[in-house]
Amino acid sequence: MKVLGISGSPRSGGNTAIAVQTALDVLAEKGFQTELLSLAGRQVKPCKGCGGCSKVEKPRCVQDDPAFEGIIEKFIEADGILVGSPVYFGSATPETMAMLDRVGYVSRHSNQFLRRKVGAAIAVARRAGQNFTFAQINYFFLLSEMIVPGSTYWNIAFGRKPGEVADDAEGIETIKTLAENMAWLMNKLNDTIRD
Ligand SMILES: Cc1cc2nc3c(=O)[nH]c(=O)nc-3n(C[C@H](O)[C@H](O)[C@H](O)COP(=O)(O)O)c2cc1C
Repeated sequence: MKVLGISGSPRSGGNTAIAVQTALDVLAEKGFQTELLSLAGRQVKPCKGCGGCSKVEKPRCVQDDPAFEGIIEKFIEADGILVGSPVYFGSATPETMAMLDRVGYVSRHSNQFLRRKVGAAIAVARRAGQNFTFAQINYFFLLSEMIVPGSTYWNIAFGRKPGEVADDAEGIETIKTLAENMAWLMNKLNDTIRD
């Protein structure tokens, strides 16, 4: 089974990428195929609300946007999806939301391919706002009919400069436990009929 981890930070190798990779490492140890997709350097355009995705056969967004190329396919192929975002003024980053808006809308117009995939959110910030961002991403999962595992705390961590998140021992432990619970849940779901 595959898990796609996304870092919605514009900073390559920053705290969000480290946090998401921490979860992916645990999942890889448990035998899952993992992939980290960083949105750093990918200026994903926002959804235009044009409804073009409802008029085409294939699950796809009709916008001409090289930065978004392949992202729909990665979501479709994944059994589990981890979305990490830094907190920017109390919110997920524009990159994260541009991606989720477009994937979510295409999914709705393509037999809801997100249905019953396992989704987990991770929010990283210097000081505050993680809960809003955590909730924001979970709202997306829940109205996309996805299944959300938990941890011993909400999946949040602290750090400002790139790398600082590694010093947040409780945050890292929370993320590792989340990954263990995600693996457990995905294995259980794999024993059942998914559609
Ligand atoms: C535009 C901007 C807005 C930010 N807003 C917040 C905020 O609301 N709360 C907070 O605690 N940190 C805030 N930060 C700090 C980042 O969340 C923090 O540096 C985080 O570790 C960045 O993650 P990254 O290394 O993955 O990019 C902000 C940073 C930037 C650049």
